[in-house]
Amino acid sequence: MLIGMASSGIPEPHGGRLINRVVGGDPERITSDRDILRVGISDDLASDVENIADGVFSPLEGFMDHDDLMHVLKDGRLHNGLAWTIPILLDVDSDTGARMKDARDVLLVSKSTVALMHVEDCYRYDKLEIARSVYQTTDPSHPGVARTMAMKDIFVHGRIDLVSRANRDELRRYRLTPAESRRMIVERGWRSVVGFQTRNIPHLAHEMLQKSVLNFFDALFINPLIGRKKSGDFRDEVIIRAYEVLVDNYYPKDRVLFATLHTEMRYAGPKEAIHHAIMRKNLGCTHFIVGRDHAGVGSFYHPFAAQEIFKYYPDIGIEPVFFPAFFYCKRCMGIVSERMCPHPQDYRMELSGTRLRRMITEGERPSELLMRPEVVDVIMQHGDPFVP
Ligand code: ADX
Repeated sequence: MLIGMASSGIPEPHGGRLINRVVGGDPERITSDRDILRVGISDDLASDVENIADGVFSPLEGFMDHDDLMHVLKDGRLHNGLAWTIPILLDVDSDTGARMKDARDVLLVSKSTVALMHVEDCYRYDKLEIARSVYQTTDPSHPGVARTMAMKDIFVHGRIDLVSRANRDELRRYRLTPAESRRMIVERGWRSVVGFQTRNIPHLAHEMLQKSVLNFFDALFINPLIGRKKSGDFRDEVIIRAYEVLVDNYYPKDRVLFATLHTEMRYAGPKEAIHHAIMRKNLGCTHFIVGRDHAGVGSFYHPFAAQEIFKYYPDIGIEPVFFPAFFYCKRCMGIVSERMCPHPQDYRMELSGTRLRRMITEGERPSELLMRPEVVDVIMQHGDPFVP
């Protein structure tokens, strides 16, 4: 039984209340104030500003303070005890930090968003300690460790009010706020919705995971992560296009909701699996799929560490659905797992994003046994499908 279920069947937002910090009023008036300090932020930070304002990160109302950061790193929980594993930080250089602290109200500006930040504190924190806790390694070859160590030195804490956002970007066409996705779930009368996180183009093991749950639950919420990814991963537009053709050709449309989630991929394995689940809870999912090596990179995490960690979070309020590793078996002639297939290793073809990326880079067209031909066509037609 889920904790905190609303009467519709969908869970309460994390912390009990969906955060909404999108200000009405006149953006012109706020942005035309000549005296207000303006601080430029990256697209990645701008995405997280929107996630805070829309409640994707509920209960956070702004970038984290020192106390929450310390508790997240030490206990995997906010200072009030609520499950939270990934620091949500705004980093600036010391000079900007000092000016922000003096100004108190600051405009955060990117090419797509403008937000007001009510600065409450600026602080330093040992970045190596952040990396060690979140990624469980300080190896600089881990992309998350490298990102953390490259952060600027000052973290700024304060609540956010989103003033305006541009909606013209093609990549945003499937972006939903939690208020929107929750409303769609309720309108469709779904009482159980299983969230699926991905950073990849879909292969047949992904499809097996997704379709298996349709046997037992009302609906599937396919929710690829759009945003900064490591070099060699698939580009966002290729992932979106691949899912368009996949859903169009192979999925029951009345039982699937496709939307994109815009935030950085962190490759933090187990800790990121908890974060992924919390965001999908806020978006209205009752369940969340965790398969093999969820949010992993290289061999930094045990393939099932991202499932194990859920035992420390019985109070998370979204039910994980665990899957074993799936592969293609030539004797079974299908996608199977060790729990279903009696045949030896020689018959097996591994199915992973890494393997498929390697095949495509080497000019080999992935077989229909591993990936839908329409999906392969999307990749091949793109010409340059990988993040540089
Ligand atoms: S992730 O970094 O977003 O986790 P990916 O998009 O490849 O990577 O995976 C999406 C989900 O499918 C994750 O829950 C992952 O564990 C699962 N998954 C991917 N490939 C397999 C597989 N061959 N067998 C079982 N689960 C898988």
